Amino acid sequence: MTTLRVKDLTKRYGNVTALEKFSLEISSGEFMVLLGPSGCGKTTVIRCIAGLTNPTDGEIYIGNELVNDLPPKDRDVAMVFQNYSLYPHMNVYDNIAFPLKMRKTERREIVERVANIAELLNIDHLLNRKPREISGGQMQRVALGRALVRKPRIFLMDEPLSNLDAKLRTDMRVEIKKLQRKLQITTLYITHDQVEAMSMADNIGVMDSGKLQQLCNPDEIYNNPANKFVASFIGMPPMNFLECNLVRQPSQIFFTFASGSRGTTHSNVMLKVPDTLSDRLCNFKEQTIILGVRPKDVQILKRDQDFEGLKLIGEVSFMEMLGDESIAEVRLDEDSIKISNVDPKSENMTIGNEVRLGINQNKVYLFTKAGNRIMGEN
Ligand SMILES: Nc1ncnc2c1ncn2[C@@H]1O[C@H](COP(=O)(O)OP(=O)(O)OP(=O)(O)O)[C@@H](O)[C@H]1O
Ligand SMILES: [Mg+2]
Repeated sequence: MTTLRVKDLTKRYGNVTALEKFSLEISSGEFMVLLGPSGCGKTTVIRCIAGLTNPTDGEIYIGNELVNDLPPKDRDVAMVFQNYSLYPHMNVYDNIAFPLKMRKTERREIVERVANIAELLNIDHLLNRKPREISGGQMQRVALGRALVRKPRIFLMDEPLSNLDAKLRTDMRVEIKKLQRKLQITTLYITHDQVEAMSMADNIGVMDSGKLQQLCNPDEIYNNPANKFVASFIGMPPMNFLECNLVRQPSQIFFTFASGSRGTTHSNVMLKVPDTLSDRLCNFKEQTIILGVRPKDVQILKRDQDFEGLKLIGEVSFMEMLGDESIAEVRLDEDSIKISNVDPKSENMTIGNEVRLGINQNKVYLFTKAGNRIMGEN
């Protein structure tokens, strides 16, 4: 059982800063996922941990040992890549056995360990085949087997499922998670797929531009995003963001929406800021704020329906049919808002119709224009 700790890791390539004071701590047996957009520095983190890239600055500890100066082979870390990197001329058995042979493990033990891991991964019937004679999903399993066969202290995976089709990805996601639970290996898993991250991780670290934006469990990341970037990155369809201005009047605050006016919609209409939100905004000095709301938290109001909270008017501009439910897009002047879980048979929701929307004030996230979260008193 081993912990992994990365402290103030910085990596520069010439004038490109791939990582900036990046810190992370993974407890023993934990499955941590690093999530972030392309180019944000995910692979660089993993390569530094594995010893394949030298950090410009910062420290890496495996257990209590500082490993910055240890060569890759002495770090006892296993890595699985996106492209499997199997040896094409070796059969499955030899591919899996390879790391043990390199370590001059006794033949009897090699035979036993390969048999065990092959059975665990359900590839024991493929041991005599070459990589070109097995499927993509099976190749991925062989790559996992080769990484796990020598029982590494740390398991690193860099987008291991991105070459698989959607169905296989979902299956392998579950299998990798089960395998990790069973073996209890401390794991750092990289993806830019938020569904993968949410479903597999004990904890998620969300990265952007070489920096960690937030690190906590999936539930907290979804319900309590630290900033607008995290809020926009987690959740499908993504959170809606509406820019609005604050108008302060004695004892009350109003929203007016920043986008231009187009007749029937809500701009230039002053919406009273509900009390709970106004508490959050009373010490806030800037004039413009970003209001965030998840598509599932926008209600479509019936004609004349009373509603406590924010009320908006807009025009249905698109319906994305997903079978039992639809995602509606409603245009509010220049902004638009997405609403999920919409009944596709609802008469109201035909394109061009005017609809009233209600947003429960407790479901609203507030951000500064720069994207920082406004938390208010509580
Ligand atoms: N060898 C290198 N030389 C110069 N710049 C590099 C090198 N490797 C990576 N970079 C840059 O560092 C940044 C981070 O790259 P990295 O590969 O870590 O991103 P990533 O998050 O893994 O992206 P992806 O999701 O596309 O794999 C990028 O801007 C990239 O262009
Ligand atoms: Mg990468």
